[in-house]
Amino acid sequence: MCGIVGYVGEQSALDVVISGLRRLEYRGYDSAGVALVTADGLATDKRAGKLINLEESLDRTPLPAATTGMGHTRWATHGGPTDRNAHPHVDCTGKLAVIHNGIIENFSKLRLGLETNGHDFSSETDTESVAHLLEDAYAAAGGNLAQAMRDVCKQLVGAFTLVAVHSDSPECVVGARRNSPLVVGRGVGENFLASDVSAFISFTRNAVELGQDQVVEITRDGISVTTFDGAPAETNEYEVTWDAAAAEKGGFEHFMLKEIAEQPKAVADTLLGRVGVDGKLTLDEMRLSDEELREVDKIIVIACGTAYNAGMIAKYAIEHWTRIPVEVELASEFRYRDPIVDPQTLVIAISQSGETMDTLMALRHAREQRARVLAICNTNGSTIPRESDAVLYTHAGPEIAVASTKAFLTQIVAAYLVGLYLAQVRGNKYGDEIAAILTDLRDMPEKIERVLETMEPVRKLASTLKDKTSVLFLGRHVGFPVALEGALKLKELAYMHAEGFAAGELKHGPIALVEAGTPVFVTIPSPRGRSVVHDKVVSNVEEVRARGAYTILIAEEGDESINSAADFIIRIPACPTLMQPLLATVPLQVFACEMATVKGFDVDQPRNLAKSVTVE
Ligand code: AGP
Repeated sequence: MCGIVGYVGEQSALDVVISGLRRLEYRGYDSAGVALVTADGLATDKRAGKLINLEESLDRTPLPAATTGMGHTRWATHGGPTDRNAHPHVDCTGKLAVIHNGIIENFSKLRLGLETNGHDFSSETDTESVAHLLEDAYAAAGGNLAQAMRDVCKQLVGAFTLVAVHSDSPECVVGARRNSPLVVGRGVGENFLASDVSAFISFTRNAVELGQDQVVEITRDGISVTTFDGAPAETNEYEVTWDAAAAEKGGFEHFMLKEIAEQPKAVADTLLGRVGVDGKLTLDEMRLSDEELREVDKIIVIACGTAYNAGMIAKYAIEHWTRIPVEVELASEFRYRDPIVDPQTLVIAISQSGETMDTLMALRHAREQRARVLAICNTNGSTIPRESDAVLYTHAGPEIAVASTKAFLTQIVAAYLVGLYLAQVRGNKYGDEIAAILTDLRDMPEKIERVLETMEPVRKLASTLKDKTSVLFLGRHVGFPVALEGALKLKELAYMHAEGFAAGELKHGPIALVEAGTPVFVTIPSPRGRSVVHDKVVSNVEEVRARGAYTILIAEEGDESINSAADFIIRIPACPTLMQPLLATVPLQVFACEMATVKGFDVDQPRNLAKSVTVE
């Protein structure tokens, strides 16, 4: 995933572009570059490494002033993160520059043809082929950059957001998108292009959503959008509700800490406006009729990573409330297993970014099989909701840290709302039963806040365990996906071996991993829920303790029955069984975040990872 910013207006293009790239750096950060259209022609600079490397280079060797320009932060796909492979890429004339997000699948064949025709290449990237294609198309189009872009896009196979400038066309910046994000910011006497709105919301909150296979040309005073064939295209303009401050760290050391702390509000906001005055759920944006929902006889959740873990939790609730069978599938596996999908299947695509390529390709497969697709997404106007039949947006606000936290809790809440809405529409639950569960949900933000207020011992625990080589996580029922999520957080933040298991599965092999001092986190179900499950998990704790494990138990306040089995206890407020993941996950997030800090790792941008994985 890469960060892209384009600008044309009256301000310093470099200042606008760099400020936008800073907001987008989470999208990919192994190199960065800028291209400006100056009075003396095209001026560029690009550097491997984080954005600061580019900024230092620009300080050393300033570029001429310009009011038209673009910039890019990269997450490498083709070609390593080097200065040469950094974007922008320039054509042979040195007048045209292009930046790109995605993958051009047919770039090798294109490059061969271009080299045969005398084009000189200087990088290993797929993107540079586009620069040389644009060079030829620009000449053929008589200096019309937008037409050149349209002609080139029709030759490309793959996923791409492209933005280009040409020194002979200083008044415009041209962009195009297919299977990759690009949004327009409409200003006064200035306009913006970006991978997502956080790049320009400090300048304008008026955004124009671009659709699939569209080309956009921005000038100071105009925005023109067409199809790849040149026909005028429909666009959707909307106001961005996020404040600029919301995308800043708000006083926290890391975005992740800020976002962990925002979880009570994120959960509360996700519930807002979804219950009518009559106490009934009103999910208007769902855009699926009650009749369609009554026909659903199977649900398949498709997602990746943390979103997949949220789907695993949702399965327990939705099946319990609606009696509809729910399968939870890793999106990257879904379409290759020849899934059984038909018009009565409701596919729920869960995605924070709305751009995850694995999930996008899986939902396309589902739609080809005539399933109805509902997206649960946190990013307004992103590709996955745009390509779904319906969407339920989470309202977590911008999640900048690569490790997902508040999006996870709000995905669970949103999935619960879908389950309750299905139960309401299909009559599986009476109104008062649904109202009671909604009350339980509305009680959760305050309970999450209480958990957040007691995390200091968990932070200290991270320091004492920092030299451990392996950490296990156990849970049963909805506690099992919590274990998976706790392990994922520790892996992606502290680069430690960690595994989550169903507690009952341990004796079937994994218990061999347990040795003296092995830290084992266990989420203890409420004894008030299904006591049999509670007692079985306590037995599992005894099993690992007997083998020397260091047991860290997450248990509800008042459950003293676990004290003798615990080396360390993390208390959480009592809550209904299905609500417990919203509380039990929080200490695991804090533990992993603190472990990364103790180890001196980059909490917000862990190695090898990007916030949105837009390649398969
Ligand atoms: C979560 O901490 C990870 N960053 C990753 O697993 C993420 O959840 C996954 O890539 C899915 O992303 P999405 O929700 O944007 O689709």
